[in-house]
Amino acid sequence: MSRFTIKHLMFGGAAVCLLAGGLHAKTVTISCGAVGAERQLCEEGTRLWSEKTGHDVQVVSTPNSATERLSLYQQLLAAQSGDVDVFQIDVVWPGMLANHMIDLSEYTEGTESDHFQPLIRNNTVDGKLVAMPWFTDAGVLYYRKDLLEKYGQSVPETWEQLTTTAETVMAAEREAGQDKFWGFVWQGRAYEGLTCDALEWVASYNGGTIVNAEGDVTINNPQARKALALASEWIGTISPQSVLNYTEEEARGVFQSGNALFMRNWPYAWSLAQSDDSPVKGKVGVVALPRGGENGRHAGTLGGWQLAVSKYSDDAPLAADLVRYLTSYEEQKRRAIQGSYNPTIPALYKDDEVLAAVPFFGELFETFKNGVPRPSSVTGEKYGRVSNAFFNSVHDVLSGDANPEQALSGLERDLRRLSRRGW
Ligand code: GLC
Repeated sequence: MSRFTIKHLMFGGAAVCLLAGGLHAKTVTISCGAVGAERQLCEEGTRLWSEKTGHDVQVVSTPNSATERLSLYQQLLAAQSGDVDVFQIDVVWPGMLANHMIDLSEYTEGTESDHFQPLIRNNTVDGKLVAMPWFTDAGVLYYRKDLLEKYGQSVPETWEQLTTTAETVMAAEREAGQDKFWGFVWQGRAYEGLTCDALEWVASYNGGTIVNAEGDVTINNPQARKALALASEWIGTISPQSVLNYTEEEARGVFQSGNALFMRNWPYAWSLAQSDDSPVKGKVGVVALPRGGENGRHAGTLGGWQLAVSKYSDDAPLAADLVRYLTSYEEQKRRAIQGSYNPTIPALYKDDEVLAAVPFFGELFETFKNGVPRPSSVTGEKYGRVSNAFFNSVHDVLSGDANPEQALSGLERDLRRLSRRGW
């Protein structure tokens, strides 16, 4: 008996089947994220599929931290557990999880050609379509329009400008009695989210993507050192010390309650910031993340989630049908409008109802199309270790335990060792 069973997942609301009548109704189990409104949207989507098919869906939710979610999945899959039929998997996981998933191309009826092709290539491992894209993501900058206006400041183009603007507005707001107010909140915990944030800083200074497409370790370079040195200055000045333990939701909590000028987050935070009970409703703007200095570029890490069917599922064809429905045009449209989840179908970025609900989907189309990929395709099964080494080194710099030179030369050594017999 394996130690890791479905009991280790967090069960929430029950399965729903509106057409339960039939004796032949079966139950498919799907693992969904629960960041922000994710769980609710997943339940609504599966309910719509249940209404159409008469089959039940059980939704299990998983830890918010992508790093913790991955280790839970790895434990379940290593035990060849059939408890979960459909897994919501991160854009950086196909190489690590491919052996446990079925080839979906038998069931998609060619619909993969409707999606962004780089995502389909990302999800194809050794010719096998490991997962279908569900939503894509890229890091963006949220800012308080009202406060920039109040203090005559403009939207920052570079990280240097962001730093000085944050200092100015934070000092003025504190002076005015807002003693919990901060300049900039983001994801600083030692987990996958920090890999995303730090990759953005490094790439924006033209410091590369940790490991390049040829598999060479490139992280120990002057541009990367510069990026990390600037970020480490934010701790305790424009960003609270506690940012070192923030994931997406902690950052959103501070920003949405009105206590920060800038926030780095994913698009999902938009619809929540705009909800009726949000203190910052109507006061928020979204732009591409700043460039690293005048010669740098706007860099948003490519994120996003896919749906994959476990090889250990008792009913893979039925599970694949659920995946086909959840990744369809109509369902991606519903999720885009209600939760600002980025579609993976380019045609939806021209849909008037989608653009009315999330105007920046149109304005930032290039950011979403050209997200900076983490080096997961090239490092394959070893990506998890590459990312762990990277976020731990960055966390050491941010915590003041190492300087960028020490941290990045140590990281380079570790990654070279990891790649010695090839990625
Ligand atoms: C978001 C992204 C995902 C990333 C994670 C890190 O969920 O979509 O790709 O790994 O954030 O926290």
